[in-house]
Amino acid sequence: MDGTAIIVAAGAGERLEAGTPKAFVELAGEPLVVHAARAFARAQSIAEIVVVVPAHCDADRVAGWLRDAGLPDAVLCPGGETRQESVSRGLESCGAGDGVVAVHDAARPLVTPRLIDRTVAALMPPWDAVAPGLAVTDTLKLVDTTRNSVLRTVDRRGVWTVQTPQVFSRVTLARVHARVASAADAATDDLSLVERAGGRVRLIEGERSNVKVTYPDDLAHAAALLAGGAGRDAR
Ligand code: CTP
Ligand code: MG
Repeated sequence: MDGTAIIVAAGAGERLEAGTPKAFVELAGEPLVVHAARAFARAQSIAEIVVVVPAHCDADRVAGWLRDAGLPDAVLCPGGETRQESVSRGLESCGAGDGVVAVHDAARPLVTPRLIDRTVAALMPPWDAVAPGLAVTDTLKLVDTTRNSVLRTVDRRGVWTVQTPQVFSRVTLARVHARVASAADAATDDLSLVERAGGRVRLIEGERSNVKVTYPDDLAHAAALLAGGAGRDAR
């Protein structure tokens, strides 16, 4: 198939405190962004990969990592101040195709070709957007953060956490991004933009190993999962 992947890798990674953009931090000897890009290169539904990198980074260095990993065709483009801007920049750098677009966080290096293909395959009428998610397993409390006092317990039935990739038709993704007036409207994912625009969004069952690296211990967790074989399907 002829889908396009936009892998956003332009964040600073402040919470990881690695002193380098998070997507450049190594997991088992390779930067997170390379792990993510390889999964998309191996997904049958994806033909084109756009990697959005920090605006002031040495893009040749990233291109070199991708080339060394056997991914010479990935297109690089500079990102923006917010994740949303970075996705918009990536969209502007896509080729002429009008197929599906899968937006993925480089911070999820253990995404699998199988999950990517399953998510793309689930985009069909009447849905405008599809993403993997997982039903929450922890008990949820609403907290007044001034003193961390518990206001109430939140009913967790029907509450899911959402992963990437998030999949749309290119037309839909471009339309919802065009509606965003300012960075003040910034959303932490692209499904939210479709929801705001009144679109129909569906979640499919995600993979527990498709973890997001945010804090240092997430990196250790991802390394343990990788050592145990996670992220390696169809490789
Ligand atoms: N991202 C991006 N451009 C930005 C901000 C984020 O491309 N201006 C990307 C990140 O590279 C990451 C994904 O969006 O792959 C999810 O963002 P997050 O986990 O918040 O990563 P960072 O913004 O890098 O981390 P932090 O918020 O701790 O600085
Ligand atoms: Mg961030």
